Amino acid sequence: MSRVAYVNGRYLPHGDAAVHIEDRGYQFADGVYEVIAVRGGRLVDEAPHLDRLDRSLAELRIAPPMSRRALGLVLREVVRRNRVADGIVYLQATRGVARRDHPFPPASRTALVVTARRARPPNRKAIEEGIKVITIPDIRWARCDIKSVSLLPNVLGKQRARESGAYEAWQVDRDGMVTEGTSTNAWIVTPAGELVTRQTDHAILNGITRRALVAIARQEGLAFVERPFSVGEAKEAREAFLTSTTAPVLSVVRIDDAVIGDGRPGPLGRRLFALYAAHAEGRDPA
Ligand code: PDD
Repeated sequence: MSRVAYVNGRYLPHGDAAVHIEDRGYQFADGVYEVIAVRGGRLVDEAPHLDRLDRSLAELRIAPPMSRRALGLVLREVVRRNRVADGIVYLQATRGVARRDHPFPPASRTALVVTARRARPPNRKAIEEGIKVITIPDIRWARCDIKSVSLLPNVLGKQRARESGAYEAWQVDRDGMVTEGTSTNAWIVTPAGELVTRQTDHAILNGITRRALVAIARQEGLAFVERPFSVGEAKEAREAFLTSTTAPVLSVVRIDDAVIGDGRPGPLGRRLFALYAAHAEGRDPA
């Protein structure tokens, strides 16, 4: 089946889809993006994703590419044309095409690209056995709350993780505190059984999966706190896991050389995995 991409008002064969060489996303990473999961043909948490998109655009003073209603229609149309029942839809909005010059161009039209693809088969082994993370210095800018396409430190960090045989790299700030993964949020369960994730500030992206899990933790009456945690504390944790649209509640069983808990996914991580799956599939938890 041939894939289809939406590019600035047109649905094009994926192989022919292109943007202009002077798109500011290409030259300056002057743009933002979202990745939304598709489950059973439904967009998971569409509204919070589009709220976050609006916020990212507003922070960078990029005009919305179209109304929210129209954007919803485009997302669904790209999903439909690519026959994605389970997968992801990706959207990227940039400040558009202009002669290369750092200040905002006097007139520009926000450029919009949307693609969708089926998910790779879920990595059973990673879910059942847990994954490894390494820790690296957080070398990113001071506005990681904006979902900008400027992802070079994240790319370098993820590559380091891969080369170390790890799934993810947890980034660490100057105070020795974990900020987040390169494309995931970070969580631990303390020896006392308290669930901890960093509070949302400019140092991390406020993950939509993170937000859903915070709501689930509150609903379930779990002992839960939002605060920074150190690498040392993470290594002593009873459990650890990470969350993102593409890796919801994946247990971390090793951080650098430290084994977490008994080296297998812990009970709270497994429970939250099941509760989140029910949320994503729009059903009541079993
Ligand atoms: N990444 N932190 C960072 C730096 C991220 O890039 C992401 C998402 C998250 C988790 O956010 P959410 O739960 O909304 O997916 C946290 C996406 C999936 C990506 O870049 O592919």
